[in-house]
Amino acid sequence: MRVLLLGASGRIGRRVATELLDRGHEVTAVSRSGTVEGIDHSSFVAVSGDASDADAVARLATGHDAVASALGPSDGEDPAVLVELMDAVVEGMRRASVDRLVWTGGAGGLHVGPDTRLVETEEFPDEWEGLAQSAIEAYEDLAEVDDLEWTYLAPAALIEPGERTGEYRTAEGELVADDDGDSYISMEDFAVALVDLLESGDAVHTYLATGY
Ligand SMILES: NC(=O)c1ccc[n+]([C@@H]2O[C@H](COP(=O)([O-])OP(=O)(O)OC[C@H]3O[C@@H](n4cnc5c(N)ncnc54)[C@H](OP(=O)(O)O)[C@@H]3O)[C@@H](O)[C@H]2O)c1
Repeated sequence: MRVLLLGASGRIGRRVATELLDRGHEVTAVSRSGTVEGIDHSSFVAVSGDASDADAVARLATGHDAVASALGPSDGEDPAVLVELMDAVVEGMRRASVDRLVWTGGAGGLHVGPDTRLVETEEFPDEWEGLAQSAIEAYEDLAEVDDLEWTYLAPAALIEPGERTGEYRTAEGELVADDDGDSYISMEDFAVALVDLLESGDAVHTYLATGY
């Protein structure tokens, strides 16, 4: 599969790139800097591009089988940029006639009870609230899209660099937590889940949560 990976230089993006390459896919890796440290592979090309520009996304996406996003705001950038990024990616994909999108989203909008989302709980850190709300707004824009085969894939509440076990669980719209109530996934296993979705084409039009 030829995959356009947006946000490929980021913490999650680099791991998604590695997982794709290890499974024999071709990766066009996009970030504004145009450089991805630590990956050197014959099926990997790093390019510079602005994913908030629909024309740029359309040019970049043309000829690919799918788009994966691990985009996120830079330090100090207004988190509301996530909504701009979402809208530009959707519009760019339409222009390029690429249908499949797997978007790395946020856990904040996942339900932890019948009427409660993670972002509404007392434990949710104040400093992440703005980002979580912007991620929810970006999801709401995506949820209106019925002409692309999208999946909004959320990490667990906590995601960090760690081990690739190849194991994870998923749930539709609900936080995935273990028996002790801890919600965690390594970035490596999140990348496994994302690439599994690209390969299977499953969970279309779904807010899918990951975790152990
Ligand atoms: N528990 C959770 O819900 C949770 C936890 C962690 C992360 N996340 C989400 O997962 C996503 C990825 O997180 P991360 O930590 O891997 O992010 P990150 O390390 O900050 O990486 C962000 C990537 O996006 C790229 N980027 C930003 N703006 C761009 C633009 N306009 N055009 C092209 N590329 C752009 C950056 O490269 P350049 O700056 O070079 O453009 C970088 O490659 C984020 O949306 C984050 O909110 C969710």
